[in-house]
Amino acid sequence: MGATIMDQKSLWAGLAVLLILQEGSAYKLVCYFTNWSQDRQEPGKFTPENIDPFLCSHLIYSFASISNNKVVIKDKNGAMLYQTIDSLKAKNPKLKVLLSIGGYLFGSEGFHPMVDSSTSRLEFINSVLVFLRNHNFDGLDISWIYPDQKDNTHFTTLIHELAEAFQKDFVKSTKERLLLTAGVSAGRQMIDKSYQVMKLAKELDFINLLSFDFHGSWEKPLVTGHNSPLRKGQLDRRSSSYYNVEYAVGYWIHKGMPPEKVVMGIPMYGRSFTLASAESAVGAPASGPGAAGPITESPGFLAYYEICQFLKQAKVTRLQDQQVPYAVKGNQWVGYEDVESVEAKAKFLKNLNLGGAMIWSIDMDDFTGKSCSQGPYPLVQAVKRNLGSL
Ligand SMILES: *[C@@H]1O[C@H](CO)[C@@H](O)[C@H](O)[C@H]1NC(C)=O
Repeated sequence: MGATIMDQKSLWAGLAVLLILQEGSAYKLVCYFTNWSQDRQEPGKFTPENIDPFLCSHLIYSFASISNNKVVIKDKNGAMLYQTIDSLKAKNPKLKVLLSIGGYLFGSEGFHPMVDSSTSRLEFINSVLVFLRNHNFDGLDISWIYPDQKDNTHFTTLIHELAEAFQKDFVKSTKERLLLTAGVSAGRQMIDKSYQVMKLAKELDFINLLSFDFHGSWEKPLVTGHNSPLRKGQLDRRSSSYYNVEYAVGYWIHKGMPPEKVVMGIPMYGRSFTLASAESAVGAPASGPGAAGPITESPGFLAYYEICQFLKQAKVTRLQDQQVPYAVKGNQWVGYEDVESVEAKAKFLKNLNLGGAMIWSIDMDDFTGKSCSQGPYPLVQAVKRNLGSL
């Protein structure tokens, strides 16, 4: 009798441990949404009210900026945004919402002069704490594109001081500790120049790896290539062998980022080219970017909901080596993601026990379900299905 009770006790203890382990191993689905997608034409117009509170484990609003050493949101619908965050979190109390500062346009310059002195950094960090707590955010993401050689130590210092401030805030507050993450480069050379990985690994909760933009119409010589190949292509030699998701993930881990802190980026957009000849394979000569999409209006770039339209009467080829598709129609070439390629990526990141998947950005998936006839958010849902419970 006594022995049975003991066994039951240890059984329960074992179960509790299992449950905790499971909780700890749940994958993150980190979803960026952009403030400029509200200005797109239908069906691309995306406002925070379009967000399903149960779609992602983490949402990241991009981008806030810095003015007079303080964090600011220049969103014309700022008030609406805060209300929406409150209501999303009321519907799903487990949802984390982060604020991202930076982006391509903000560049590296945007972090100056704030990062240049400890006084201005402190002013900035204090403004961040007030801002995040006032507006019910759960953390901060720094999307510094990119620190490079000259700002490499500034970046580490900023992250270190933010982490310290978040810890102090946690000790004296009744709320959960604010999360600290960074959107980081997937280019080997930029990783070497920009990041003191061992130091960052200790301070950041996770990194959002920008594992896309490996190829595009900026390439010299200008030839076709996929935006986000999962693996090295047969034709990749020397430095082009680095331009794929597998290499970038491995390189971050090799430099000291724990796998569970690597959240792997999956793009909801493709990169396009205008072909220069009848050749249309990967590595075919191109004369420039592909034609702009009707909604995103940016040459060389198409959102998934635009790609679905492009695919009508296009010829699709799956790259067996790189595990991603491209499509050709007339002289237009686009490398993109579909359900099959994002599923392969989700399986890949699970095999490596990474922290999860990052989506750039949910406003470029077919969020209405009207353009692709695959239901709302077909790509994000495919990733989510493969990750299992979040
Ligand atoms: C989005 O945010 C940026 C940076 O804060 C700002 O310059 C821009 O005007 C915002 N866009 C909209 C549509 O509010």
